[in-house]
Amino acid sequence: MPVASMKPSVTDKSQISAHIVAHRSASIKGRARVPGDKSISHRALLIGLLTVGETSIEGILEGEDVLATARACKQFGAAIARNSPGSWRVSGVGIGSLLEPTSALDFGNSGTGVRLAMGVAAGHPIEVVFDGDASLRRRPMRRVLEPIMRMGAEVLEQIDGARLPVRLKGARDPIPIQYETPVPSAQVKSAVLFCALAAPGETIVIEREATRDHTERMLRAFGATIGIERYSEHGRRIVLQGRPELAPQKLRVPADPSSAAFPLVAALVVPDSDLVLEGMLANPLRTGLVETLKEMGASIEELDRREENGEPIVDLRMRHSSLRGVEVPASRAPSMIDEYPVLAVAASFAAGTTIMRGLSELRVKESDRLAAVAAGLAANGVAYEIAGDNLIVHGNGRVAGGGEVETHMDHRIAMSFLVMGLASEKPVMIDDASFVATSFPDFTGLMRKLGADFR
Ligand code: S3P
Repeated sequence: MPVASMKPSVTDKSQISAHIVAHRSASIKGRARVPGDKSISHRALLIGLLTVGETSIEGILEGEDVLATARACKQFGAAIARNSPGSWRVSGVGIGSLLEPTSALDFGNSGTGVRLAMGVAAGHPIEVVFDGDASLRRRPMRRVLEPIMRMGAEVLEQIDGARLPVRLKGARDPIPIQYETPVPSAQVKSAVLFCALAAPGETIVIEREATRDHTERMLRAFGATIGIERYSEHGRRIVLQGRPELAPQKLRVPADPSSAAFPLVAALVVPDSDLVLEGMLANPLRTGLVETLKEMGASIEELDRREENGEPIVDLRMRHSSLRGVEVPASRAPSMIDEYPVLAVAASFAAGTTIMRGLSELRVKESDRLAAVAAGLAANGVAYEIAGDNLIVHGNGRVAGGGEVETHMDHRIAMSFLVMGLASEKPVMIDDASFVATSFPDFTGLMRKLGADFR
């Protein structure tokens, strides 16, 4: 079928009621572990696919985004078994041996899944159609297609301006390149590295702003030779030796700091709260939110620090805190890129102005997050400004609430404004909670156990 006549996917969200209203709650208290890290879960499946033998994954995120990547891995030839909740086994086919999928790969809402899988497919002589839902069809794909085309992949069909659906023909003999990513994006970097696994010799990726490095860490853990050096002030130069022999691993996925961000901020803004979040990934390229909240005066205490599968892990305790406005530098954006919506909520409850700089990438996430956050703040009586790529929130220690927030098929917009409603004077309603299932399927259940009043 020509890609132009394909319909966008509608993922099944029938289990979850769409409207939810968050009411002012007495406290957020207890201990909890949020689901597995989404970025690491996608990578575990795709690297498992590229490894001959059985990789075991404990604590994988069973959210819709990751389930879509799992279905794609099966189409590429992997056998995937679920032993118990979160405990999966992946039997991979190995680099160079991917099968050609028999139908279009539907990544639903997942930008990470589709972009990483494009990189994997680009190193194999197979034809693949990549597609997704209406939100994913609006997101830019040129940033990934451009480098993988330099490596020898061909785009056979695409919708205007490199949007999904895309029909891709991978390279028979992928070419190693030196590539400087034009935007700070771990997805682009990872797509190039995944394609480079099938290329001979050295592929070099340069990023001016270091982004999450789970691909590099995991490839190294599977036995690839990968060198990482500093590059200019905030950047990195990554050198991967192609065609490695990857060896199956036993992986444990740490709890996702981007999901933990919601109960974490809830505990800071709801009076009388005292919460422990266990087993959280503490990779320094993911901890920008915690750093910023501490600068705002948050009580966040590290209880235990350890290492698992080459990633640092912590248990964190947070208590209700009086927050104050701060300035967040643009250089911190890659380490907290998914956390700005919930930081804007924290900033709404803070005393004084919070300036968040360098947010251009927020415009191309699951929704235009800058616009969606601004509309949500306005609906709930929070004063803000957008100046270029900067978001400025004028907090005064309290939030009126009472607004209805449009979530625009975006899980993080939904969860952020549900957190706002737990401490605002009037309740906050969101129009559609169904997309929460992409990254945090039991968000409302876990939050209710801790004391959240969601109706
Ligand atoms: C991700 C990278 C980030 C982030 C996304 C997950 C990843 O996107 O927003 O949720 O797993 O590589 P970009 O690479 O586009 O910044």
